Amino acid sequence: MYNFNDPLLNLHEITLSLLSENDPDILLNTILDQAIEFTQADSGSIALLDDTRKFLEIKVFRGLSKDVPEKVKLKLGEGVTGRCILTGKIRNVGDTKEDPYYISVRSDIQSELAIPLKAGPKSFGVISVDSSRLNAFDKNHEEYLSLLANYAAQIYTHQETIQHLHDRQYIQDTLLHISALLGREPDFKKVFENTAKLLEEKIDLKRAALFLYDDITHELSIEYSLNYSDNQIERSRYKPNEGLTGKVFSSKKPMAVANISQDKNFLNKSGISRMESQISFFSSPIILNDKVKGVFNMEIAYVNHGKFSDYTFLIQLLSAFFSQAILIEELIQQTESEIKNENIFLKRQFENNYVFENIAGKSKVMEQLFKTMSMAADSNSSILLTGESGTGKELFASAIHRNSLRKDNKIVKINCAAIPGDLLESELFGYEKGAFTGADKDHQGKFLIAHKGTLFLDEIGEMDFKLQSKLLRFLQEKEFSPLGSNKIYNVDVRIIAATNADFEKLISEHKFREDLYYRLNVIQMNIPPLRERMEDLPFICDHLLNKIAVNNKKNPKSLTAEAYAVLESCHFPGNVRELENILERGFVLSRGNTIDVSDLGMQKPAKNPTEKIIRDSISETPFNISAWISAKIESSSDGNYYADIMRETEKELFQLLLKKTFYNKSKTARLLGLNRITLDKKLKEMDIV
Ligand SMILES: Nc1ncnc2c1ncn2[C@@H]1O[C@H](COP(=O)(O)OP(=O)(O)OP(=O)(O)O)[C@@H](O)[C@H]1O
Ligand SMILES: [Mg+2]
Repeated sequence: MYNFNDPLLNLHEITLSLLSENDPDILLNTILDQAIEFTQADSGSIALLDDTRKFLEIKVFRGLSKDVPEKVKLKLGEGVTGRCILTGKIRNVGDTKEDPYYISVRSDIQSELAIPLKAGPKSFGVISVDSSRLNAFDKNHEEYLSLLANYAAQIYTHQETIQHLHDRQYIQDTLLHISALLGREPDFKKVFENTAKLLEEKIDLKRAALFLYDDITHELSIEYSLNYSDNQIERSRYKPNEGLTGKVFSSKKPMAVANISQDKNFLNKSGISRMESQISFFSSPIILNDKVKGVFNMEIAYVNHGKFSDYTFLIQLLSAFFSQAILIEELIQQTESEIKNENIFLKRQFENNYVFENIAGKSKVMEQLFKTMSMAADSNSSILLTGESGTGKELFASAIHRNSLRKDNKIVKINCAAIPGDLLESELFGYEKGAFTGADKDHQGKFLIAHKGTLFLDEIGEMDFKLQSKLLRFLQEKEFSPLGSNKIYNVDVRIIAATNADFEKLISEHKFREDLYYRLNVIQMNIPPLRERMEDLPFICDHLLNKIAVNNKKNPKSLTAEAYAVLESCHFPGNVRELENILERGFVLSRGNTIDVSDLGMQKPAKNPTEKIIRDSISETPFNISAWISAKIESSSDGNYYADIMRETEKELFQLLLKKTFYNKSKTARLLGLNRITLDKKLKEMDIV
């Protein structure tokens, strides 16, 4: 019960009990009851400034009709309470009829006392009491209510701060949950859905939409959403600067609206009818690499003033999270498509193209070598490249290194035939100053230089027998000492060795250590001589002619049919190197865009090149078709003669004409009188090109 004998004690007790109270409604109601009881007023209210800080909203009231809070929304400076909050001073109106500011809320009210609620210098609300008597409130009332307002304001701001901290903590926990979600999921659609669901549960998110800007339509449209129907998504399209979403996009700045229905910029193009009483709206740009890509919007059940900044902070963080997640998804997609393209590219290299890593060739054996090379590139095993001079051993060695994990380090090449034994040893392993006469400073060996890279030992067959042992030791133990040194070096070097010698012979003659041969020969790649894979000739010619043109900074030139036929008739003991020299000479000597036989400096073949090819490709002995057919009959089985002989004849015919036209299939089809598709089909069946 109210203790009129000691109002101050009364007040003290009440405020103490309120300190532990967390509900602002209970606080305001208790304070108002106190005020009315002490002043014996007939009615009263407590009004607080709204979020915009422009209007006073009646929060609790006594003795007034229910619709008063809805009807009476006083602006700052309007009415007795509006004046009170604007000036920050007590207003004691003894006769309402005399007060120019008084606005009637109850017809019988004759006097009113209004006391500001202040947090520091700023007023945030007003306690007012009214009476049907004239001059109902005196100095005593003013003093008591001031004291009450003072306590109330302190408790209220204290409560607000606690609530604020609590909300902030809650938002931080929510953010932690979201960041955990983000880390787990690479698919952005799922990230968005999971986040939205979490927010729906945690902060009463009503709706969310992520708009992305389309450079072609110049519109923002919804890409991901929560609680939007398909039609609503379809209708929600904004141009830059249009509506809140367009404005956030253009300004690149977040925006927040406490009550969306009262904002003139809110266009509601989606046509959603928001049944919820009041909705707050938060919007923030999606920025990737400094470029604004879209906008993220959230609708939340009305958010009061205290929480407002926290939610603005939340949406900014969320849009930053989303931007990151979109970026990551984009990167993953990009990498995936790059990998896919790379695979397609590699496949194409094998399937349709005839140049792989500067090595031209389309014969079965070359394709097999390409495959071995790609597989061997990633391992650390030693590779032995064998083949006649000029077949491309060094070319393969470089290509293997370039395709290996060691590609960022050096490939060091050394020709074992070009350096005499002792010198080769010091070249390979290095020496220390004073190791022998003339060693006046330290010398780094190739093994050390090639650390983490590849060492290409060309012409390994020529290596000194003694040195072979030292090399073997290195291969077994992966360590070596330079000449004249006690230091032991541990290096990581991959060995690729090459030879055009016949190892079996060298081993049987005790010129090459068998154990070393096995150590080197972990992967063997034997490159056959050019004459054994003449189907590569047109491709190699084409590739080399382009290479020569680039080296000479000239336009590419092509071979005449006759010149090509001459090359075809060659045996190329010097292999591709020899061919390259011939072509280079032809390129330089020829005028115009074609290289003729005379430019090659070689003998003209038979008048009709095709005839010559036929002769060459069958045999040196005169060709007799009946004898050939008889032989075929011998080797074929009953019932298959026609098919077998025709297939072989047809294959021969196609190959000849393909060569003649330099593998121009349209031209070949024309010469044959076949249509191009039929030719392609047949070539495929016969496994030609
Ligand atoms: N398949 C090919 N495609 C394109 N160019 C090739 C091919 N094979 C060899 N060449 C070229 O032929 C020349 C000789 O090749 P490389 O030096 O690799 O041969 P090699 O086998 O190491 O010869 P040697 O045993 O004489 O050292 C180089 O100019 C190389 O580019
Ligand atoms: Mg070589």
